[in-house]
Amino acid sequence: MSAQPDRRLPVLSGGVVTGSAWWQRATIYQVYPRSFQDSDGDGVGDLEGIRRRLAYLAWLGVDAIWLSPFYRSPMADFGYDVADFCDVDPQFGTLEDWDRLVAEARRLGIKLILDYVPNHTSIEHPWFSASRDGTRRDWYLWHDGSPEQAPNNWVSVFGGSAWSWDERARAWYYHAYLPEQPDLNWRNAGVRAAMRDVMEFWCHRGADGFRIDALRQTIKDRLWRDNLPNPDWWEGEDPYDALIPVFTTDRPEVQDVARWLRATVDSAAQKDGRERVLIGELHLPIERLMAYYDSGVHLPANFHLLKTPWEPAAVAALVESYEAALPTNAWPNWVLGNHDRSRLATRLGQRHVRTAAMLLLTLRGTPTLYYGDEIGMQDVEIGAELVQDPWERRVPGKGLGRDPVRTPMQWDETPHGGFCVAQAQPWLPLARDADSVNVASQRVDSSSLLTLYRRLLALRRSEPALSIGGYRTVAATDDLFVYERAAGSVRILVALNLGSHGEETEFDAGGGTVVLQTHPERAAPRRAGAIRLAAGEGVIVRSQAPG
Ligand code: GLC
Ligand code: MG
Repeated sequence: MSAQPDRRLPVLSGGVVTGSAWWQRATIYQVYPRSFQDSDGDGVGDLEGIRRRLAYLAWLGVDAIWLSPFYRSPMADFGYDVADFCDVDPQFGTLEDWDRLVAEARRLGIKLILDYVPNHTSIEHPWFSASRDGTRRDWYLWHDGSPEQAPNNWVSVFGGSAWSWDERARAWYYHAYLPEQPDLNWRNAGVRAAMRDVMEFWCHRGADGFRIDALRQTIKDRLWRDNLPNPDWWEGEDPYDALIPVFTTDRPEVQDVARWLRATVDSAAQKDGRERVLIGELHLPIERLMAYYDSGVHLPANFHLLKTPWEPAAVAALVESYEAALPTNAWPNWVLGNHDRSRLATRLGQRHVRTAAMLLLTLRGTPTLYYGDEIGMQDVEIGAELVQDPWERRVPGKGLGRDPVRTPMQWDETPHGGFCVAQAQPWLPLARDADSVNVASQRVDSSSLLTLYRRLLALRRSEPALSIGGYRTVAATDDLFVYERAAGSVRILVALNLGSHGEETEFDAGGGTVVLQTHPERAAPRRAGAIRLAAGEGVIVRSQAPG
């Protein structure tokens, strides 16, 4: 609770969380395993590579890693098409490599969050073969009919009809994504039990939580009703958006799936005392996101910052409406980048990477960082002949492909940025600036972006006001977004200039000590009174009420 209610300001939202869970205090770092570190010279990142880089993540100061899928997969969607949920793909290593990763992570105090893919399997999963030949028919979504006419108008996220005809089964099967990713039928008790076993397998083998892939899509309308045309869509946009997916996403029964998953991790926790977090991938408007808290998802992923204009009024309005919509005791979370969206340095521009870091790591709620954003990696243009992502292949030229944001991590100035040995061919090309934009050079530079991230993470860990304190907006002017985090007698003021014109803007911080600046070379008074911030600059000011 705020020690000194200030009548000029709106009430703190949240207050201080007592008895907070590890995932509320944590910062999560997303690793895309193909692209983090190759250890065996095949140009594809692997689990052993990640293990070798854990010391870096511990040094950086993150608390948990979320790993995109590394299960056995024919890689039609680079691991999001799973052929065996309980094994490691040979490209990524072995189950023993996983065990070694767990041991090292535990030693360093880093939690491991797995990507759990309940909505679909690979077409090569044995369950799908059994479904095609009729022994487990009801495990997937089949529709009889003639091969000429798809059952309804549902479309795939990755382009084209969401139905494919299967000659062996003489029926259509539904796939929200690729034809190589048939959707499971979550109304089937056998599917639910088998997928619970998968979760239990990984809980037992060291998982500290799960990011639930494509959760909103797990249940489809029983009556196969057509989706409705979207009046706001026009030719040339993402074809998936031509229809409003009311009958294929966020159906009320998805909440039952969420409850089932939560019960599964809770019962695992009862056995071994390790609390596990569930993060839901849910591209939904704020109001609809909130229902998932009630059904037990700890962190329904909040992607709204990815789409909000980088302007104080817009960002402040988002934070406030999100805070206001949160159910009691629901814990917020924020995302500024992932393996599906343009990188923040490219999206917002180089000028704003530092205020973006400061915002993400000082808002109330669990932040997720995307690998490489801490050094300012940019989207890398991929020549047509090098395209890997099936989305780009199926819907080319619309900027939907995700290869540009999945290029190898830039570690140092050696060949291939230290991602793989010189003789190897990385699966995606490195950024051309990897020689200069990399971990090694930024680690030793006290004014680098990486150093800023590290300082922010350290400050967040040492200041309860930042990790678990309340939030309130102080001001949103043309250029400045100013807010306060508070716990006990400590008040942390964060001021960010999100504007883009050259002039400095001044504001009165009302005293306190400047504890962090986005641009340390800028002379700011140690005691904060009037502070001047140019576009892209931010400061954090700490004050403590006497007594
Ligand atoms: C999620 C993942 C994306 C993947 C898709 C299908 O949206 O984030 O990368 O392609 O699900 O599994
Ligand atoms: Mg490898």
